[in-house]
Amino acid sequence: MKHLLKLRDLSREEILSLLNLADQLKYERKHGVDQTGYLKGKTLGMIFEKSSTRTRVSFEVGMHDLGGQPLFLSSNDLQIGRGEPVQDTARVLSRMLDGIMIRTFAQKEVEDLARYGSIPVINGLTDYCHPCQVLADLMTIREYKGAFKGLKMCFVGDGNNMANSLMVGAVRMGMKFSIACPAGYEPDAELMAWAKEEGEFELCDDPVKAARDADVLYTDVWASMGQESEQKKRAEAFAGITIDEKVMSSAKKDAMLLHCLPVHRGEEVTEEIFEAHADEIFDEAENRLHAQKAVLVKLLRSNA
Ligand code: CP
Ligand code: NVA
Repeated sequence: MKHLLKLRDLSREEILSLLNLADQLKYERKHGVDQTGYLKGKTLGMIFEKSSTRTRVSFEVGMHDLGGQPLFLSSNDLQIGRGEPVQDTARVLSRMLDGIMIRTFAQKEVEDLARYGSIPVINGLTDYCHPCQVLADLMTIREYKGAFKGLKMCFVGDGNNMANSLMVGAVRMGMKFSIACPAGYEPDAELMAWAKEEGEFELCDDPVKAARDADVLYTDVWASMGQESEQKKRAEAFAGITIDEKVMSSAKKDAMLLHCLPVHRGEEVTEEIFEAHADEIFDEAENRLHAQKAVLVKLLRSNA
């Protein structure tokens, strides 16, 4: 594993190995073990072209925990924001840093950074996918459910970056995946074809049907970062695509609810259902830290 550009690049074994390492790092941190030897002297550049709370804080605290240093690079201040080509930025940063984490719009920009640079690149979210989040999600599911095989995950909402990555993560780990979204808001067509081929995949526009017997329910905002101008149109298209009591009770009795956050209460999920599952959701948010540290150790530590 040289980069983390998208989840599909990782085998089941590579994902499991990252999750095992994340569990170990979580255990060590909770027990006060000094972790500063893992990445002593390493520097991670973090380029943000979109806002972030969890991703920024998990990578920043993660680098400190591991003995390295994070460098926050806002695209407003970088020359990349004024049009310096990715090819040049990649080659310059490769001579000064040990790794780059980037959150941006186009997946191609992340792939180009990896292509033209010579250090590991980590995708901290694009319009296409969010692999870091799904590693934390898988870690949380395993904590609550013990294993993946045979579980059913149901995503209710926009076929966006989260849906794309969750679909890949679920199928890779042996889970069934269903999604309820309005027509015209389906996940990536090529990924859906892959999911059908590789595992059990169901697409519909009825959340109650999609949630039937699910072990894990998942949802995300109706309008993602960069889609602010579509807010009104999307609110109309997504009316009813909400995790409420009815959807929840269509799932298994012990079903968990996850959300990558930030949440829009009263849109993709009701206030009551969100709060009833807050423990799971905030464990999931905490696991961003441990999962991202596992990615950092795997990619930045020589012979990890
Ligand atoms: N879930 C997630 O990536 O959160 P942030 O946008 O706050 O980083
Ligand atoms: N789909 C959301 C996820 C945020 C973590 C977005 O891209 O804004």
